[in-house]
Amino acid sequence: MSTKKTVKDYIRTIVDFPQEGILFRDVTTLFADARGFRMAIDQMLHPYAGQPIDKVVGLEARGFILGGAIAHQLSVGFVPVRKKGKLPGATIAQEYQLEYGDAVVEIHDDALAAGERVLLVDDLLATGGTAEAGIKLIERLGAEVVGCAFIIDLPDLGGRTRLEGLGMDVHCLCAFEGL
Ligand code: PRP
Ligand code: MG
Repeated sequence: MSTKKTVKDYIRTIVDFPQEGILFRDVTTLFADARGFRMAIDQMLHPYAGQPIDKVVGLEARGFILGGAIAHQLSVGFVPVRKKGKLPGATIAQEYQLEYGDAVVEIHDDALAAGERVLLVDDLLATGGTAEAGIKLIERLGAEVVGCAFIIDLPDLGGRTRLEGLGMDVHCLCAFEGL
């Protein structure tokens, strides 16, 4: 039997974080391992090899770590989507729903040119609300999302179905069933 570790094997689960009853899927243990991190970056990129990509957009916060490495690998620029009030230049904003209340993310209004082809990246796809807000920001700047890549899918929360319903190509490296 092979003992080769997969990306999923490097992800640590923290019980009752940030609140009781939640199983927190912690990717810091994946990022901290040289082999695990490289494997994750390579696998996130794999379906897009040979496709023209102009920019990588990463969603705050862990999407920055992944997006920076992926952009470097592709030799393209990286653009952050940040929580409200963090970006210094002129921005456009997009509201989205959280479990309790609303949130707002922003992008610099000159960060993408019309027609640019963008790969959107984040660590985890749950309800898809954060990713959908990112997609809207990218599309409002006239750019095109060629794919959405995540390490983890939580299929019970419906994010993949939601993004595919928007016509998105969704690529996840592993899934955790149950909440
Ligand atoms: C987590 C995760 C994704 C998002 C997924 O980020 O890193 O970005 O939630 O949830 P969704 O699919 O239901 O939108 P969080 O908002 O906790 O913030 P952080 O990345 O800044 O810690
Ligand atoms: Mg996040």
